[in-house]
Amino acid sequence: MDWETKWLAEQTPWDTGVPAPALCDWLQATRRKPQRVLVPGAGGGHDAFALAKAGWQVTALDISPTAVEQLLAQARKMELDNLQAHAGDFLDPGFITTLGEFEAIWDYTFLCALPLASRPVWAEHMTQLLAADGELLTLIFPIKAVGGRRDDEGPPYRLTPQDVQALLAPLGFAAAELRPVARSLPSRAGLEWFGRWSRNSP
Ligand SMILES: C[S@@+](CC[C@H](N)C(=O)[O-])C[C@H]1O[C@@H](n2cnc3c(N)ncnc32)[C@H](O)[C@@H]1O
Repeated sequence: MDWETKWLAEQTPWDTGVPAPALCDWLQATRRKPQRVLVPGAGGGHDAFALAKAGWQVTALDISPTAVEQLLAQARKMELDNLQAHAGDFLDPGFITTLGEFEAIWDYTFLCALPLASRPVWAEHMTQLLAADGELLTLIFPIKAVGGRRDDEGPPYRLTPQDVQALLAPLGFAAAELRPVARSLPSRAGLEWFGRWSRNSP
């Protein structure tokens, strides 16, 4: 079933209904002033809303037009006028060139949702979208196989900190932080690491 069909059928079991605790912790801790942030594969938008509430200029995107419609309707209810959202395929080079560049990019349950063969394209597009002094924030999940799946079965496809490092290091990224998270939702405990990456020295 493709993503749009899942959204239309309301089959969105990944949607926790709240922002990721690790994102809330980063928002508390960061010294970065809020600038432009991209949230690819934004889904229901809970993380995008948390970023917008913290003052970031949010661009959310999702391949599912239905997800984007719902996200925008919710953003309007919340009166978040510093959030825009677009329907499009992050893996489409033509689409991502329309987006501009961002001082931060937040990836949670997006890279793990992509087919394994698409991971190098994800990394290449991150490089294009991130401003020179920007930070790519990856909440890496699930670091162990879930539901008895093989590594090549998904989504979600198992995603380890080493996988992300192997994608980003050849493109000049270094990890300023790469560690288990302090807080997760109970259903995801022990399955999440936080990575903060930049192309400058950490
Ligand atoms: C597992 S869901 C996670 C949603 C959200 N990040 C969350 O934490 O709830 C993955 C999302 O990525 C979207 N998606 C999948 N492939 C995509 C692509 N190539 N480009 C943009 N969005 C995509 C899906 O429609 C879905 O909403």
